[in-house]
Amino acid sequence: MKFQESTLPKDLYYLFNPRGLAVVGASSDPSKIGHTILKNIIEGGYSGNIYPVNPKKGIILGKKVFARLTEVNSQIDVCVISVPALVVFDVLKDCAIKKIPFVLIISSGFSEIGNKEEEEKIKNFAKESGIRLLGPNIFGIFSAKSYLNATFSGSCVSRGSVAMISQSGALGLSLMAKSVSESFGLSAMVSLGNKADLDESDFLEYFGKDKTAKEIFIYIEGVTDGERFFRTLSKVAGKKLVLIIKSGSSVRGAAAAFSHTGSLAGEDIVFDSLISRAGAIRVTDLNQAFSLLNLHSLAGDVKKSETLIVTNGGGVGVLASDSAEKFNVPLFSDLNYLKNKYGAFIPSFGSVKNPIDITGQALAEDYLKILEASLKDPKIKILVCLCCQTAILDNRKLSKYLLRVASKFKKARKNFIFCFIGARDIESHFRNQKYPFYQSVESVFSDISKLNKEKNLVSKSKVLAKLPYKEINNLLENVAMEKRNTLYSFELAELLDKLSINRPKSFFSEEYKDALNSAKKIGFPVVLKIVSKNIIHKTEAGGVKLDIKNELEFKKSFNRLMQDAGRYDSHAIIEGVDVSEMVSGGFELIVGAKKDPIFGTLITCGMGGKYVDIFKDISLRHFDGVKETIFQMFNELKIRPILRGFRGESSMDIPSAVEVVYKLGSLVDKSDLVKEIEINPLIIEKDKVIALDFRVIL
Ligand code: ACO
Repeated sequence: MKFQESTLPKDLYYLFNPRGLAVVGASSDPSKIGHTILKNIIEGGYSGNIYPVNPKKGIILGKKVFARLTEVNSQIDVCVISVPALVVFDVLKDCAIKKIPFVLIISSGFSEIGNKEEEEKIKNFAKESGIRLLGPNIFGIFSAKSYLNATFSGSCVSRGSVAMISQSGALGLSLMAKSVSESFGLSAMVSLGNKADLDESDFLEYFGKDKTAKEIFIYIEGVTDGERFFRTLSKVAGKKLVLIIKSGSSVRGAAAAFSHTGSLAGEDIVFDSLISRAGAIRVTDLNQAFSLLNLHSLAGDVKKSETLIVTNGGGVGVLASDSAEKFNVPLFSDLNYLKNKYGAFIPSFGSVKNPIDITGQALAEDYLKILEASLKDPKIKILVCLCCQTAILDNRKLSKYLLRVASKFKKARKNFIFCFIGARDIESHFRNQKYPFYQSVESVFSDISKLNKEKNLVSKSKVLAKLPYKEINNLLENVAMEKRNTLYSFELAELLDKLSINRPKSFFSEEYKDALNSAKKIGFPVVLKIVSKNIIHKTEAGGVKLDIKNELEFKKSFNRLMQDAGRYDSHAIIEGVDVSEMVSGGFELIVGAKKDPIFGTLITCGMGGKYVDIFKDISLRHFDGVKETIFQMFNELKIRPILRGFRGESSMDIPSAVEVVYKLGSLVDKSDLVKEIEINPLIIEKDKVIALDFRVIL
């Protein structure tokens, strides 16, 4: 098998369904991981050939032990290595001789403790030898289809439809154990470890195609290749439920953020928006994840259809209505229909509205009547059954009836969701029968709503702005050739002109006299700005003097500008000043684009000016080359009402601002030279936008 480039789909079939499997480091000592893995493989019911390897030979758990891998004469698809890190490379060499396509390295002691060299060594060797590596530093894999439990989990695993990908070992093992006590079961579990080769995108792609995986649950700390991950996620989440927990949200935050808006936004915001655009669901804790997995894997698809609620408590019914409204879950609202269909089962003092209130005197039999009627009712697709504990309600009988009906609902591909407030004894009946069981009304509707969530997909493909890229590239190449990573103001002005972004009239001057002439040419009032490649944040350095009304003020401002700049950075080389037209009025925005090593091009927009860091009203997204996305970004800003026209004022020119962000995103996306680009402020008025201050970092 040849090593495939990471962008190509990889066939991981034999990793999950090996015909022959070796465990190197298999031990007769029950306290060793190599023993547990072998035991789990045998006891899990794996029916392929198993080859324990240990120089001591002999028999372990009834299996003949081979002194070396090379002594095994049959085909091995997967080799599990559980020997100390120092020995791993030697074993890998044997794997190459045996042409084993998949190797799982359980051993710790690599990059996670700083031993990057050894990890690179095994990674490169595996790549050259056509071996796909999982790990190192993993707990193994589980595959329900082949009855393969090649992990050192301590308990049996419940089989089902959830495929899990876990970057955390301990958490992954706990999730396997949890699958037994939860309603759902696992179709597969894979531990990512240090991701020397195979990563989350490989498995997401595989589980996306694997019919036994109906839900995919991913725990990750960070993604290896953001663009590939989200491309794959968009494909998979369109077909299957994908839940993602991502921890360590702030680790790369500062690095991913824009330099000027460093404290505003980070990787996490981009990650969040990409997840929801892809159609996956980000969950913040395990309980929420389990609740959704339970509901989805057992109750089937919760489609956006109208819901009927039945309750024996008026108060709980009101809570349910409130929650349904809060989470935007549509309730069946044809009251005449409900009266005709269900009226006969409800006491005169009950309610035939939705929620149907069968009152506190309801017996298990009363619930059963409503449930059976709704089962046959073609208009009802989701039935939420709420129960409050009362002295006359026989819990055992009720759970027997409910479970009987629940299985019929499942067969009829309808959702039956049960929420019992006040009686825990009933929960075990439901869990044992693998049915979801809720104790909070709010959770019921929050889960239905999450599973119903409209996929915020923008299916259009990436189209870049039509710009004179070649000319822009020539300009930037000249800057790069001079080993500068910022542009002089006249270059920035030229770039803005090439981008067809409005800017105030402006002239660069190296000395006072020339600057004064420029001011006269433009006409007062004017703005003076320092030009120095060493001073990026001009305002902080006192490098911007506004609203200079006449020649006298101009002289004073010029001198103060030089003094302030010198005070800010006495080593700064001052190239000159920029004299520009004073633009007043309008509203200040910040817009920008940057290259992120993981997510590709990011774009931002928000409230600009010098208070950016205080108001933190910023939207940040991955650049997908779709203007609609940028409109959405402006729509989610707190300043939206101002932009749309506040108290009778006319709406501002949002389309032009969108166009500017689109151009900046396109340039960063297309250019190999631009790392970051930002306009702050971009003045927005009712009929135009004007870039007042522009920064480019190469
Ligand atoms: N080929 C075959 N067998 C070998 C070889 C070899 N080249 N060299 C040694 N062995 C045998 C040993 O003799 C031993 O067998 P024995 O018990 O019969 O003597 C067996 O392999 C294991 O070797 P040990 O040196 O005893 O190593 P041990 O089992 O104690 O530890 C392990 C190995 C588990 C890989 C350890 O080094 C390690 O990395 N532990 C951490 C694993 C881990 O946590 N991974 C991440 C999981 S995720 C999470 O966080 C839960």
